[in-house]
Amino acid sequence: MVERSTVLAALDRVIDPRSGQGLATAGLVQGLVVAEDRAGFALEAPAGQTALYAPVRDAAEAALRAIAGVSRASVVLTAEAAPAPRRTASLSPAAVDQGRAKAPVPTDRPAHVRRVLAVASGKGGVGKSTVAVNLAAALAARGLLVGVLDADVYGPSLPTMLGLSGQPAYEDGAIVPHIAHGLKAMSVGLLTKADDAMIWRGPMASQAITQMLSQTRWGTAETPLDVLVVDLPPGTGDVQLTLIQKTPLDGAVIVTTPQEVALADARRAHTLFQRVGVPTLGLIENMSGPVFGQGGAQAEADRLSIPFLGDLPLEVALRQAGDAGRPLAIADPDGEIARRFASVAGRIVEALGL
Ligand SMILES: Nc1ncnc2c1ncn2[C@@H]1O[C@H](COP(=O)(O)OP(=O)(O)OP(=O)(O)O)[C@@H](O)[C@H]1O
Ligand SMILES: [Mg+2]
Repeated sequence: MVERSTVLAALDRVIDPRSGQGLATAGLVQGLVVAEDRAGFALEAPAGQTALYAPVRDAAEAALRAIAGVSRASVVLTAEAAPAPRRTASLSPAAVDQGRAKAPVPTDRPAHVRRVLAVASGKGGVGKSTVAVNLAAALAARGLLVGVLDADVYGPSLPTMLGLSGQPAYEDGAIVPHIAHGLKAMSVGLLTKADDAMIWRGPMASQAITQMLSQTRWGTAETPLDVLVVDLPPGTGDVQLTLIQKTPLDGAVIVTTPQEVALADARRAHTLFQRVGVPTLGLIENMSGPVFGQGGAQAEADRLSIPFLGDLPLEVALRQAGDAGRPLAIADPDGEIARRFASVAGRIVEALGL
């Protein structure tokens, strides 16, 4: 087991170009994770300085790998939020004196995003990411401006499913999202250099996701994003709870397969959302049909008194489209699968008041 102190000492031998201090001393090591043979952290560059810090990230990663016992290392480069414009400067002294100066708008919601929708599942592998991208496409087909955030730290799949690659660009301290099939897209998988995203644990994961939410230029004042679809990691553990608590969600859809084990996990996911006051907009049954059964999610939704949003058959074209980076709802817009996603999208638009 590698000691944290060893890791911090190694990181202190990498010099911060601005302060001239070691990275740990300079306070740039955020959300450090040291577990078994893995180490990683988020390197927070000052606003607008990410280009300067890319080589520092590489040096820090090399320093971690050089530690005996560390075989996997990842350093995620994130940017500090650009300082907010000083609103009070434009107010007349009289207005300030009268106490009418407005408090700054809380920044926990991503700017210029009207609604944030989570796609969740209790159990992994049930088709959450497939639903997230196809639902996003179906929402976009209604003329909405849609973004997708892949917050699945255990197995980011948006890069594959939407055919994304390359680290995002930074502009004025903001992350510029990729655009794929008309959707704005960001993934934790694009912030790491290697396929190391799965080494992330609680603090680093929530730090990176909070930053991707709040620092990505999802929309602008003129053209706000209508809805941001967030693909959450599967499960109902601490990472999920932290994420759900930190993410300003307007609603969640829960994906499940028809089997009882998956339904039990879907139930737990619903309970988790209830605990934090996020409305579950409904259940979706995926891989429905002769292999896994059918109707379980409808019955579960009735038991939980939440809407049942529809089912999707086990359909090889759905997997192939995902593997090819082109969601089926886009590749075959007149097909049966697209029609089902369009119907779910209609219910979501209504529930979110879009
Ligand atoms: N209805 C379906 N018919 C056929 N294949 C499907 C269907 N839904 C999903 N798949 C395939 O099943 C696999 C798992 O789906 P997906 O990655 O969407 O699940 P997930 O819940 O996001 O998994 P993870 O927990 O790993 O994030 C993928 O290969 C996907 O293409
Ligand atoms: Mg997934």
